[in-house]
Amino acid sequence: MGFLFLSDAERARIFAAEFAQSLPKIRFATSRDEIEPSQVKYLLTWTPPDDLATFSNLQAVFSIAAGIDQFRLDALPPHVRLIRMVEEGIARMMQEYVVMGVLALHRDLPAYVEQQKQRVWHALPRRQAEDRRVGVLGLGQLGTAVLERLRPFGFPLAGWSRSPREIEGVACYDGPDGLGPFLARTDILICLLPLTRETHGLLSAELFASLPAGAGLVHVGRGKQLDAPALLASLDNNHLAGAVVDVTDPEPLPRDNPLWGHPNIILTPHVASVTQARTAARVVVDNIQRMDAGLDPIGLVDTVRGY
Ligand code: NAP
Ligand code: GLV
Repeated sequence: MGFLFLSDAERARIFAAEFAQSLPKIRFATSRDEIEPSQVKYLLTWTPPDDLATFSNLQAVFSIAAGIDQFRLDALPPHVRLIRMVEEGIARMMQEYVVMGVLALHRDLPAYVEQQKQRVWHALPRRQAEDRRVGVLGLGQLGTAVLERLRPFGFPLAGWSRSPREIEGVACYDGPDGLGPFLARTDILICLLPLTRETHGLLSAELFASLPAGAGLVHVGRGKQLDAPALLASLDNNHLAGAVVDVTDPEPLPRDNPLWGHPNIILTPHVASVTQARTAARVVVDNIQRMDAGLDPIGLVDTVRGY
């Protein structure tokens, strides 16, 4: 029985070395030509092949990414487990990006970049971190990691999740009833939610109107969560002050999309964070060992909940 690894060659090299050392009995294949579908027990991929049904002995699919919205959950055989990527490298990169985005908005970077283009020397009013309330939508592996990294700056911190959570020093809100109060106290909103039926289009005109005037957005979830025209309208009518947007719908974003040229938006091409092969290979090996020992893998997706 084997492990079929369908991702890039550089990551394949690192995973192959980890498997050779830790799971030498598992045949490690990096292309479909190397292994019969019926021999594949584990598959790692971004999206599954169309003929998944021919993988008759498949037990688990590992997503190379933290997000699993690219999978059609109803197309997975019920006995096949889907496991999202939970690893420290991806969390570390997300911490960097979100701190960069929050500080850029907190210190008015979009406005100063624009002023520089116009050669305008003008200091804007400066606000202290203790007066800038930061809130994170999503308190999973990435949401909690970015809160941890934001903590030393002194921003009042809050988070919103589906189920109740307790995090020291973070005001935690949950469920649909918690969203309004959470938004009302949030000056910089970070979206780190998975894309599901419930979160599709969540960043809407109504949500932006619920934020205090002058608020900012750091969007690092998924493009389909954002109503982009509503964001542009909210920036144009000066309700929102700025946005850092890493994910769009579609990707790549067409050249004529107005998000590109808006002076209050910093746009990056879905680069906030990416799975780091060294730490990810270790996590995948651990998960196989956990399953062999009858334990649930870390990052097991609940296909009904959708994340
Ligand atoms: P995770 O560990 O599964 O955490 C998801 C969090 O969202 C949980 O706290 C969950 O609540 C909350 N949530 C889900 N549905 C909700 C709802 N309807 N209402 C309120 N809260 C809800 O996910 P993760 O590993 O942190 O990743 C989050 C997402 O980040 C990924 O799915 C992906 O889309 C995105 N991402 C983007 C990049 C990038 O480069 N831009 C990189 C990696 C990941 P509970 O705690 O109650 O379950
Ligand atoms: C990247 O967007 C991921 O979900 O890992």
